[in-house]
Amino acid sequence: MDQRDTLIGWLNDAHALEKSLEPVLENHAKDAANHPEMAQRIQQHLQETRRHADLVRGCVERLGGSTSTVKNTLGKVTGFFQGLSTEPARDELVKNALSDYAAEHFEIASYRALIAGARALGETEVARVCEEILQDEERMARFLEQNLPMVVQQYLNADVPVGSGAGTPGFRNA
Ligand SMILES: [Fe+2]
Ligand SMILES: [Fe+2]
Repeated sequence: MDQRDTLIGWLNDAHALEKSLEPVLENHAKDAANHPEMAQRIQQHLQETRRHADLVRGCVERLGGSTSTVKNTLGKVTGFFQGLSTEPARDELVKNALSDYAAEHFEIASYRALIAGARALGETEVARVCEEILQDEERMARFLEQNLPMVVQQYLNADVPVGSGAGTPGFRNA
């Protein structure tokens, strides 16, 4: 297999990953409806994710490939991210935060690999686009990292009887 075809294959995997994360983020934004700041940040990343899919498709086409023949080799991985969130659970927001955190880090790993691959093959424009996407993923990962303790505390505080003095911690902006 030509090295360029290998890079196209990896970009196709990233495209499939972005497309499969769109419905996950849509659902998680709805789940977080009672937590407006979290819902709004997920909604923002949903827009970013749609843009990522378009940008990656542009990279595939620039290299002479097509995303229309995508084999979803990442089905198992993204199935894991989706799977955690389909079970109705009282601690749903905690479960969602875990899978979102994992998904962002999987994206970070994917784009770091793509940047190295694109640079190795002299595809500087592909590397530049992937670096731009990587920054969005890192910002979202940072937001989730900073807010994960709050999500857990809010869930546990919801179980604490009224009058116990437990406060409701606020969300933090990354
Ligand atoms: Fe993304
Ligand atoms: Fe992301």
